[in-house]
Amino acid sequence: MRSLDLLVAFICLAEAKGVPAEQRRKVVQSFSVRRNASSDTTPLQVGNGNFAFGADITGLQTFKPFAIMNTWGWHNFSLPTTPGQTSVEDYTGLEWWTHGRLVSYEQPNPAQNDISNWLRENPHRLNLANVGLHFGGANVVESDLKEKIQELDMWSGRLTSSSKYNGSKIEVQTWADSDSDTIAVQLQSALLKKGSLGLFLDFPYPDKEKFNAPFVGHFNLTSKHKTTLERLSPRSAQIKHTLDDTSYYTRIQWEGSEATITGPLNGTHRYILTPKASSKIQLVISFAPTANFPKNKTTYQQITTASRTWWHKYWTKGAFIDLTPVKSDPRALELQRRIIQSQYLTAVNSASDYPPQESGLVNNGWHGKFHLEMNLWHTLPFARWNHFDLFHRSLPHLYTQLLPSSISRAKKQGYKGARWGKMTDPITGRSSPGEINSLLIWQQPHPMFFAETDYLSHPDLPTLQKWDDILTETANFMASFAWYNSTTKFYDLGPPMYPVSENTNPNITLNPTFELAYWRFGLDIAIKWKSRLNQSHPAIWSTVLDNLAPFPIVNNTYATYEGIPNMWLSEETTFDHPAQAGIFGLLPPSSQLNLTIVQNTADKIKETWHLEQSYGWDFAMLAMNSLRLGDVDQAVEYLLHPIFKFDDAGYAVGGERVPTPYFPNSAGLLVAVGMMASGWRGEEGVKLPGEWVREGARVEGFVTAL
Ligand SMILES: *[C@@H]1O[C@H](CO)[C@@H](O)[C@H](O)[C@H]1NC(C)=O
Ligand SMILES: *[C@@H]1O[C@H](CO)[C@@H](O)[C@H](O)[C@H]1NC(C)=O
Ligand SMILES: *[C@@H]1O[C@H](CO)[C@@H](O)[C@H](O)[C@H]1NC(C)=O
Ligand SMILES: *[C@@H]1O[C@H](CO)[C@@H](O)[C@H](O)[C@H]1NC(C)=O
Ligand SMILES: *[C@@H]1O[C@H](CO)[C@@H](O)[C@H](O)[C@H]1NC(C)=O
Ligand SMILES: *[C@@H]1O[C@H](CO)[C@@H](O)[C@H](O)[C@H]1NC(C)=O
Ligand SMILES: *[C@@H]1O[C@H](CO)[C@@H](O)[C@H](O)[C@H]1NC(C)=O
Ligand SMILES: *[C@@H]1O[C@H](CO)[C@@H](O)[C@H](O)[C@H]1NC(C)=O
Ligand SMILES: *[C@@H]1O[C@H](CO)[C@@H](O)[C@H](O)[C@H]1NC(C)=O
Ligand SMILES: *[C@@H]1O[C@H](CO)[C@@H](O)[C@H](O)[C@H]1NC(C)=O
Ligand SMILES: *[C@@H]1O[C@H](CO)[C@@H](O)[C@H](O)[C@H]1NC(C)=O
Repeated sequence: MRSLDLLVAFICLAEAKGVPAEQRRKVVQSFSVRRNASSDTTPLQVGNGNFAFGADITGLQTFKPFAIMNTWGWHNFSLPTTPGQTSVEDYTGLEWWTHGRLVSYEQPNPAQNDISNWLRENPHRLNLANVGLHFGGANVVESDLKEKIQELDMWSGRLTSSSKYNGSKIEVQTWADSDSDTIAVQLQSALLKKGSLGLFLDFPYPDKEKFNAPFVGHFNLTSKHKTTLERLSPRSAQIKHTLDDTSYYTRIQWEGSEATITGPLNGTHRYILTPKASSKIQLVISFAPTANFPKNKTTYQQITTASRTWWHKYWTKGAFIDLTPVKSDPRALELQRRIIQSQYLTAVNSASDYPPQESGLVNNGWHGKFHLEMNLWHTLPFARWNHFDLFHRSLPHLYTQLLPSSISRAKKQGYKGARWGKMTDPITGRSSPGEINSLLIWQQPHPMFFAETDYLSHPDLPTLQKWDDILTETANFMASFAWYNSTTKFYDLGPPMYPVSENTNPNITLNPTFELAYWRFGLDIAIKWKSRLNQSHPAIWSTVLDNLAPFPIVNNTYATYEGIPNMWLSEETTFDHPAQAGIFGLLPPSSQLNLTIVQNTADKIKETWHLEQSYGWDFAMLAMNSLRLGDVDQAVEYLLHPIFKFDDAGYAVGGERVPTPYFPNSAGLLVAVGMMASGWRGEEGVKLPGEWVREGARVEGFVTAL
């Protein structure tokens, strides 16, 4: 056989053999996280995508107040009392010149600072509580605990933590339910019987900071909020937490031991649960917006069974990649670690009913709000890795829900269709005031990317119908936003606008490469969609698609935008997201691209770009660009770039510009690996380094990229 044939044969083998459940288990468990001290930056988590519990070395929040966060826990500070700025309706935003007319943008208005700030800071996501070990009032610090060992088993979602205090062993198991805001905790120690060990529950008040890392909220602003304890039975109690207009309930149920619950301790919202008469207690702690708790989530056994079942299914049903047979290249093992831990962490933090925040459910970034442009990264891995149940948790209902407010945003600005906001929340759907927030546009075609991804795996009428209104209104906006330039006879994008890289002058930013490519992609899908439905499409969609400005080219490379001064020559034009790599990395191949220029651009980025100031998904996007250009080794290099860091538990390190963790990195890694495992449409097949395949690397079940 010729070597090419041989390679093809191996590649087919790599997919055909699959990765049996038992082998998947071995690979997953070989990356169980082990710690012997709390991390200063990241917890270990159990959770389910809509709810997560962040633990320190004790398996609880004894020494480090990591967060318990979820999808519904949000809060507003009271509105400003400044005259003329006392209600949301008072806020006007700012008007900017846009092609000869004044357009109103949701930007902070210097004449309305208080209400502008309020709108940015509210609502914000809550840290629901802290639960930790209570040493009978003794002031114990982490170094007082000896022989600390902790292990996170991602195969079952179990966190096991043990230590010794004053000679006595303390063992804790922590689990999360698969579909409610519930943890299960088993606590074993001779100290329990002596009454010198118990649990505390404490409740914080939120703060106004944009980033709350590594911890969220204050436990010493006691007078600003209220808690009340209700003992429901000898084995259950409930605490109502009221913060201004927000309130929610924490229910604590226990088995295996008698226990008393008291509190709050003076001057705090801290409650103490003290078991007695047994050296073992099992607890179920649940959170809910009303006192209406699920009836079938009340025992330790129910929660641990749900966790085991869910995680087994997650690991065995979706795609899998096994690089562990590769012995000659140590990069394979590190990539495998990042893959497994990212799969766990994205399921815990990002598989939400709404787009997750960049810091997932670990802490609060941007007040806990989500960013619609980042949602592509967050949600795409669930499609590529064949977890469409998780993909459909937020899609398309997110867009359906935001459609009315997006239509009125476009209308107010004089455009047709729906203009999606940027930094928003599930409750109000408002786009938080911000110059970049209001002028970024690359989130607009995301619905087309999602819809096409959905349709290729579910090519049926329900899929066509459920996305139709969303795509129609999105395309209407995109066509109406493109501005006909009668000099060039092209349709222009911007100004004003911010491109993906967010680092240009919005008033001169015109025809950025990535956005032009994405507008073409989006309008093309919208037209295809109508034809799949046997419907005609508005003529303007084709007119704009066929007459969009050409890609800006400088010295045979794709520039960031048309007319950019000093492209590639200055620090200012070679940092932040190198989005021109995305036209071939993230977006599917198109006949509009000149591959010589794509290659030149990739080379120029490698040579000049200040990657030390890059974050996250830049590396995934560059890796995918390299893959499509046929340079697999460079793709692996980008995924293991020294700036693209993942800590011992697999959390993506934020780096210089964003806090830790930064989940778009984790998602980006999984999307890029998905492409490496299965290629893209028209170029299907394994794209791993040939040597890895020869040594036995295997892939199974991936959904090919667009
Ligand atoms: C704790 O873990 C670190 C890193 O894995 C290791 O170097 C160290 O020896 C461990 N310490 C103890 C006391 O086990
Ligand atoms: C916060 O205020 C907005 C109105 O501005 C309201 O829609 C929302 O329900 C309030 N509460 C929370 C928790 O966001
Ligand atoms: C852009 O133009 C608007 C007016 O339309 C102005 O308020 C704003 O300051 C300008 N921004 C920059 C960066 O020049
Ligand atoms: C440690 O244990 C000893 C004997 O069991 C006991 O007398 C002492 O009070 C304990 N110290 C603390 C700090 O709990
Ligand atoms: C309250 O707690 C915060 C940390 O949440 C701390 O920075 C601050 O110093 C504390 N204030 C007081 C008065 O103890
Ligand atoms: C709480 O304060 C009250 C009155 O200030 C005092 O009588 C009581 O002993 C205190 N309780 C605790 C647990 O410190
Ligand atoms: C628990 O009850 C809910 C309805 O309250 C139901 O939808 C769910 O399937 C039940 N789960 C189990 C594991 O029985
Ligand atoms: C028309 O296009 C040219 C070339 O792209 C550009 O320089 C000019 O500013 C555009 N005209 C307007 C009014 O935007
Ligand atoms: C579109 O028309 C074709 C040919 O008549 C038909 O097979 C198909 O089912 C139609 N599709 C829809 C969504 O109506
Ligand atoms: C284009 O290439 C020429 C020759 O290498 C160089 O002198 C010039 O600075 C380059 N211009 C830009 C904008 O990169
Ligand atoms: C692609 O770009 C290269 C370099 O600018 C040029 O030489 C070539 O003619 C272009 N190819 C096409 C098909 O336009």
